[in-house]
Amino acid sequence: MASLWGGRFEKEMDDIVKQFNASIGFDQRMYNEDIDGSIAHVTMLGHQGIVSEDEAKQIVDGLEKIRGKIKSGEIVFDIDDEDIHMGIESRLIADIGDVGKKLHTARSRNDQCQIDMRLYLKKEIKDIAERLIYLEEVILSKAEQYADSITVGFTHIQHAQPITIGFIFMAYFQMFRRDLDRLAATYERMNLCPLGACALAGTTLPTDRKYTAQLLGFAAPTENAMDSVSDRDYVIEFESDAAISMMHISRWAEEFVWWNSQEFGFIDIDDSYCTGSSIMPQKKNPDMAELLRGKSGRVYGDLVQMLTIMKGTPLAYNKDFQEDKEGLYDVIDTWKASITIFANMLEKTEFRMDRIEQHFAKGFLNATDIAEHFANAGIPFREAHSIVGRMVKMCEVKNCDFEDLTDEDLQSIDQRVNKETLGDISMKACVDARVSYGGTAPSEVRRQISVGESWLNGIKEMVW
Ligand code: ARG
Repeated sequence: MASLWGGRFEKEMDDIVKQFNASIGFDQRMYNEDIDGSIAHVTMLGHQGIVSEDEAKQIVDGLEKIRGKIKSGEIVFDIDDEDIHMGIESRLIADIGDVGKKLHTARSRNDQCQIDMRLYLKKEIKDIAERLIYLEEVILSKAEQYADSITVGFTHIQHAQPITIGFIFMAYFQMFRRDLDRLAATYERMNLCPLGACALAGTTLPTDRKYTAQLLGFAAPTENAMDSVSDRDYVIEFESDAAISMMHISRWAEEFVWWNSQEFGFIDIDDSYCTGSSIMPQKKNPDMAELLRGKSGRVYGDLVQMLTIMKGTPLAYNKDFQEDKEGLYDVIDTWKASITIFANMLEKTEFRMDRIEQHFAKGFLNATDIAEHFANAGIPFREAHSIVGRMVKMCEVKNCDFEDLTDEDLQSIDQRVNKETLGDISMKACVDARVSYGGTAPSEVRRQISVGESWLNGIKEMVW
């Protein structure tokens, strides 16, 4: 089949070149967006008198028929179509005749592939935002459920201080909140219409790009034609939003893996989110958490690929840019599935409070609280820190807890301290007292939940 651009050519492309050149295998995923873009474009051409209103109508009707035929499977694209733009345009011309040849007036595939990508990505961003919102809702309800439940807080995977489980949930809530805010900013920045930029320099024809932008639901047309056809910042930005979010998911997934281990035993991941072993009958493996951890690497790869594709490319369009699509689809599919799997797994996970409590005796979790009690009694914190350090040493020698130290033991370390200056150092008292803004106390966690709820209601209202 002769290509739509074949006029100046004497030879057909080699088969191997056709294969290498074609994007139809993957860009047909955007056939709806390609048709939406073409309909808006020809409506604008009709409105401006560049084609007649009747011609515009014939083209719109023809495109809608093609949409139906692609959907029903009647149209099957092949390598001769080269890309989705020509696959649709050539069928339009075959269906409605010469009038179909007017569709490609005042546009180019360079702006066309970009309108497809932006329309497609805008739709997917909405879907991803809804999934992230659902994840945040799950987190909020779990944070409330576990607002008073105490667990071990770690630094360097060493016992550090007692914290509430709700507090952990709210820490991750902040991360996904930033992910959503970033996605919203990406959406706003990319919400400009490139259609009508043409090949690189605009057109001599009297188009109205503002009208096209309006018809397609964009805030405005892009400002510079050459930038419009060569900009892939929004793909990079979106993929970097995804990479950061996947990094967040991978961090929590990692905690799930070890919380679920025999050594920790903090949680029970629901059976429906685990798998067994083909040889070891007793195994219940946290495969979903591990896959989520692994999938982040895949998304980073897509991001680095796109940054590398764009590096050093001169203005304006270059065929390198066709490589923007498969990585983008991969990021969209991976991020979407990961958010939903993760949210569902989270919802079904319960904490084993009996097992968690067994860990409280290890690691002197309340050491900082004692130092703060001493500081409160007027001992400079640096000195309080050193006194508690010596108390730890003594406990280790005697193989006992802080509570077991006698007044004499304490006085032998420092005259200023005794059992009374220790204060209430139960896990609950320690946690309840950490009421500083952003702290772990149940009352503080509940405040964070309520701030989180108002923000979430606000982001739901956003015009995505
Ligand atoms: N399939 C191409 C892409 O996705 C469309 C643009 C082709 N433009 C061109 N001048 N060859 O990038």
